Amino acid sequence: MGNVIKKLAIGLVVGGALVGITRALEFPFVFQMMFFGYAMLGAAVFMLLDAPSLKTMSGTKSVIALLAFYIVLCTVYIAGASMWPQYDPEDEKGKIAKILGPKFAATQQGKAEELIARAKALDEQVKALEVRLKALGGDETTKEPQAGALPVTTGAATGDFMKLGEEQWQLQECYNCHKLKGEGGKKRGPELDNIGTYLTVDEIKLKILDPKSFMAEGYEKDWEKGKMPDKYKDLMEESDVVALAAWLGTFKNTSVPTPKPIKKK
Ligand code: HEC
Repeated sequence: MGNVIKKLAIGLVVGGALVGITRALEFPFVFQMMFFGYAMLGAAVFMLLDAPSLKTMSGTKSVIALLAFYIVLCTVYIAGASMWPQYDPEDEKGKIAKILGPKFAATQQGKAEELIARAKALDEQVKALEVRLKALGGDETTKEPQAGALPVTTGAATGDFMKLGEEQWQLQECYNCHKLKGEGGKKRGPELDNIGTYLTVDEIKLKILDPKSFMAEGYEKDWEKGKMPDKYKDLMEESDVVALAAWLGTFKNTSVPTPKPIKKK
């Protein structure tokens, strides 16, 4: 009996210490209790060692006793384990969706709204400029802006327009395959810092809408694997493509080995 109390006392001390440590380390409460539970389980095992040994059995009786022991052990173990909080992946997924859902919606929606607002503002600026051009020129030679050509070439409007192009680079994730300004690219596609030297804005636009229109020199061996996707014509508005092409057209860094594009169509 004295032994049992001694072992129980040791179990309580060890359990208490474990709770103290896990609490100091800011473990959740259930984990603190779990450590305490393990200490008590250990104490119980040591107490069992003191129990008087069973009489030696033989034959069928011993087999039945062994099976019974096995069943009791399994039941205790499984029942005990199932008492602890269970990890449920569906539950966790639900929690993550709850936390991230509103944030994700906010950013996606926020981005879209911002882009729409910016496009509207640009449209108004272009209209205002057209009015001014007409008022200035007066004559009938004011040409319709060419499709794909930059609608304006000066002032704040161009800045916004370029920003829109850069934004499209990010939104369409061109950086997944192309390095630009030393950023992005996983070597699937060529670095584009010098593309403006080779292609006009209209040609870059063509390449985005129809990737087979121009092919980078040496593409057969160097970039066969990371083929440029033929999806942007479906994903992007005409004005987005023009903005992106115009922005890319400003990259004329001849120290970067952008491969020469070859006209295919
Ligand atoms: C899945 C990878 C991938 C993505 C994404 C991708 N490209 Fe490409 N791109 C390539 C590869 C590979 C080449 C080289 C072979 C070729 O010319 O088609 C290339 C070539 C180009 C070229 C010609 C480069 C040269 O030197 O001839 C331009 C311009 C270009 N891409 C622009 C873009 C733009 C803009 C986007 C985003 C709207 C984009 N790419 C998205 C893989 C990609």
